[in-house]
Amino acid sequence: MVAVPTPSLPGARIVQQDALAFLGALPPDSVDLIVTDPAYSGMNQHLMLGRGRIVGTYQAKGEDRWFDEFHDTPENYRQFLAECRRVLKPDRHIFIMFDSFSMLSLASTVRAVFEVKNIVTWDKVHLGMGHHFRRQSEFIVFASKGRRALARRDIPDIWRIKRLHRAHYPTQKPVELFEAMIASSKTAADTRFTVCDPFAGSGSAAIAALRQGAEFIGCDVSAKAVALARARIDGYLASGVDALQRKPAYDARLQKKFW
Ligand SMILES: C[S@@+](CC[C@H](N)C(=O)[O-])C[C@H]1O[C@@H](n2cnc3c(N)ncnc32)[C@H](O)[C@@H]1O
Repeated sequence: MVAVPTPSLPGARIVQQDALAFLGALPPDSVDLIVTDPAYSGMNQHLMLGRGRIVGTYQAKGEDRWFDEFHDTPENYRQFLAECRRVLKPDRHIFIMFDSFSMLSLASTVRAVFEVKNIVTWDKVHLGMGHHFRRQSEFIVFASKGRRALARRDIPDIWRIKRLHRAHYPTQKPVELFEAMIASSKTAADTRFTVCDPFAGSGSAAIAALRQGAEFIGCDVSAKAVALARARIDGYLASGVDALQRKPAYDARLQKKFW
């Protein structure tokens, strides 16, 4: 059970905007941490699963389409990373999620813009779909702008956090995954700490930031996602209950909680 937040809790703001436009409008050196789970187009163009694409009616157009992809050409992706670097304060961290396909095609670009420190494997505990081995993992590239130590030294590079089954939003990630990223970077001395996710989706990173005592700013290009995320945040702030993930996604027997 989550404690009911007090009025002094930090806030969370999500706007409907393209990630590049949103980041471009933020002042330089203004956020403390970026945690993000972009909608890569490469994976979906290359991996056909059964008769459909990765998520449901992925090929549908207009209203039936789950959500837009970010056109992750090398140029766009580099521009995205450059904007992330510009808005991060000096000596801060960034965590970027990758599936196996985009990991091979795009992750090396991160090294051209940031100081890449490590790759964390997210072990989703339960099997997902997939040809050529069923998918049970995704990857998180951990990098910095300048020098910054982790908040603690005992965190492993494999995080066993259960993937969500029948989530409210396609590709919705467990809040604990983002909590783990935030708790890895934010120290007790960071009394005012702003977390940014420019591909916010249903707002899982926003709930994680609130739980970790941080401010949140983010965007999503989809009006549906923004409406869902805002309602989720308002509900959480009013009641302490996360309506989109009512059960914990971690099991203390599999993963020591460090967040
Ligand atoms: C993988 S989902 C994020 C899911 C999120 N982590 C959650 O737990 O709900 C990626 C999101 O990126 C959004 N998106 C796609 N293209 C975008 C763009 N150009 N700018 C901002 N958001 C975009 C999609 O609408 C989608 O909600």
